[in-house]
Amino acid sequence: MDLKGNTILITGGSSGIGLELAKRLAEHNKILICGRSSEKLQSAKYAVPSIEYLQCDLALKNEREKLFEWIKSEHSDTNVLVNNAAITHNTNFVDDPEITEKAELEIAINYLAPVHLSKLFLPLLEKNKSPKLIYITTGLVYTPKVAYPIYCSTKAALHSFITGFRFKNTNAKYGIIEVLMPAVDTPWHNGNPPKIAIPVEQAVQEMLSGLNKGNREIKIASVKKLYKISRLAPKLALKLINRLD
Ligand SMILES: NC(=O)c1ccc[n+]([C@@H]2O[C@H](COP(=O)([O-])OP(=O)(O)OC[C@H]3O[C@@H](n4cnc5c(N)ncnc54)[C@H](OP(=O)(O)O)[C@@H]3O)[C@@H](O)[C@H]2O)c1
Repeated sequence: MDLKGNTILITGGSSGIGLELAKRLAEHNKILICGRSSEKLQSAKYAVPSIEYLQCDLALKNEREKLFEWIKSEHSDTNVLVNNAAITHNTNFVDDPEITEKAELEIAINYLAPVHLSKLFLPLLEKNKSPKLIYITTGLVYTPKVAYPIYCSTKAALHSFITGFRFKNTNAKYGIIEVLMPAVDTPWHNGNPPKIAIPVEQAVQEMLSGLNKGNREIKIASVKKLYKISRLAPKLALKLINRLD
């Protein structure tokens, strides 16, 4: 993928991986971002003045449509959609009285939103040069971490969707790319990242290098090893992932 001259929409580009991606790509591309918090969006704009943003909540169908209308009317040259926004709840399925509401929210943001946005955006992306749909997922699609009972299953579902979508459209004009992240030190961890978390700069550098090489499934850092272990010894992978903090 040519990393210059694109118009790129990054969902959840106001924090963490999305924001680092925006910073790295802004010099040679037009960058558009969205998120729920106006304050975070304004700080991102302060950090990267050339970006443009829309405040929206991707949990809601009509807000996803609002995002698409904004792009269609004001940035119709958009050729890359990065489905990055997500949330998680660190919880215990059995003891949590609000688990159903949490599950509904995670399914809406982490799974339904990228699927719905892909459907909305594809015809518009295809009108432009080098269209790409990029999805940020996680090594936990291969083996779940029990502390995130809903998150892991939403990302595994998204991984399944992406794999089938790409297989069916191997010769399409558009590219379908999945980037599988390990633990990354971002605000996601609320100031308490796991010891194994890698710096966000490293995660995004590896992602850009994979995109540059034209890879369609980009496993970042330790995800390569986790993938192999989960295939060869699935029970061991499950134990290892749930022992790490
Ligand atoms: N950090 C990790 O260890 C890690 C590991 C593996 C995979 N990942 C994946 O990497 C991606 C980015 O994570 P991150 O670490 O950069 O997290 P982050 O720092 O918490 O950023 C998440 C972004 O998503 C936005 N967002 C969340 N819910 C939204 C909604 N309903 N509508 C619109 N925007 C929404 C947030 O903005 P608002 O809160 O203002 O809406 C924020 O901009 C996610 O897909 C995550 O699953 C992260």
